[in-house]
Amino acid sequence: MKAALAAGTALLVASLIAQTPAHIRPGEVWVDTSGKPIQAHGGGILLHGGVYYWYGEDKTLGNGNRTGVSCYSSRDLLNWKRESLALPKDAMPEEFRDNGICERPKVIYNPETKKYVMWMHLDDRGYAIASAGVAVSDNPIGPFQFLRSFRPIQYDFGFAENDRTRQAELGSTFRDMNLFADDDGRAYVFYAAEGNPTIYVVRLSADFTGIEAPPVEGKTWERILVGQSREGPAPFKYNGTYYVITSGTTGWDPNPASYAVAANILGPWTRKANPCVGEGRETTFGSQSTFVLPAPGKPAGEFIYMGDRWLRNNLADSRYVWLPFRIEQDGSFIIAWRDQWDPAPTAR
Ligand code: DGJ
Repeated sequence: MKAALAAGTALLVASLIAQTPAHIRPGEVWVDTSGKPIQAHGGGILLHGGVYYWYGEDKTLGNGNRTGVSCYSSRDLLNWKRESLALPKDAMPEEFRDNGICERPKVIYNPETKKYVMWMHLDDRGYAIASAGVAVSDNPIGPFQFLRSFRPIQYDFGFAENDRTRQAELGSTFRDMNLFADDDGRAYVFYAAEGNPTIYVVRLSADFTGIEAPPVEGKTWERILVGQSREGPAPFKYNGTYYVITSGTTGWDPNPASYAVAANILGPWTRKANPCVGEGRETTFGSQSTFVLPAPGKPAGEFIYMGDRWLRNNLADSRYVWLPFRIEQDGSFIIAWRDQWDPAPTAR
């Protein structure tokens, strides 16, 4: 009896150790605190009340939107507890469920309304609906209530004839996206627009559930990286300068990243080179940008690049590539590969 108990305890301890990662290992299977691979692709992080909430696409059942938007929580960025399916696919309009698309969900908190606001890219399997979706919740882990889908900006950029995405009628397409909460209380959505060649930066309404109205080009929104076909926008700010890391547009296949900088969030933005160095730099180490997070407890100027290593033939097994980087005095930065690294705050 005693021996059996001891063996059971040893097994339990061994499995707990196996489940508790000591390091971030980019590209390796990353399990949650219950031992299951984390399903939070195209994701983003909200830091609220000392807790990190990681939202993303749950692709357990493969391509399309067969599950919904997941939410995990952590205090150390290493150990992630599965909290909920924060926005189940059945909470979204039918056309976006199952074979439909719900990608790149992001959440920010609105201190005025005390609501957690989620934006996402919604689509049909042919990527022709290309619209924003918005949902809100009183609680970071949900349940989120779906509000609406729409195309935020109408703008005549010279639509193609026979445009299958009907931009002249419905407004510019909305695909890869991110949210950015500025330190003046305003928030913005960055998204691939105009069928993807150009990124839009659009200021949100005071409650963050829509855009500032009326939209005025150059004042409340702007076209940036015009004609450069960038995706996966991951904006952040340091020392009064705005940054955005982007990828190229090659479907699920990785490509070189680049970044851009601006003194004003609505531009002008100056495109910089690929920040990645060393072997793998041409594929962003086999990943596509999804988010940049200020590193916890580190000196200012240290950030974490978060990317997705999509496995196009088995999207459920797609991995995460998280890498630390530091902004130099001149405002530049490089991203280098690490087999493993520790996100623990630096002792001061
Ligand atoms: C690239 C985007 O970044 C992904 O989110 C996804 O939409 C794929 N394209 C689909 O091919």
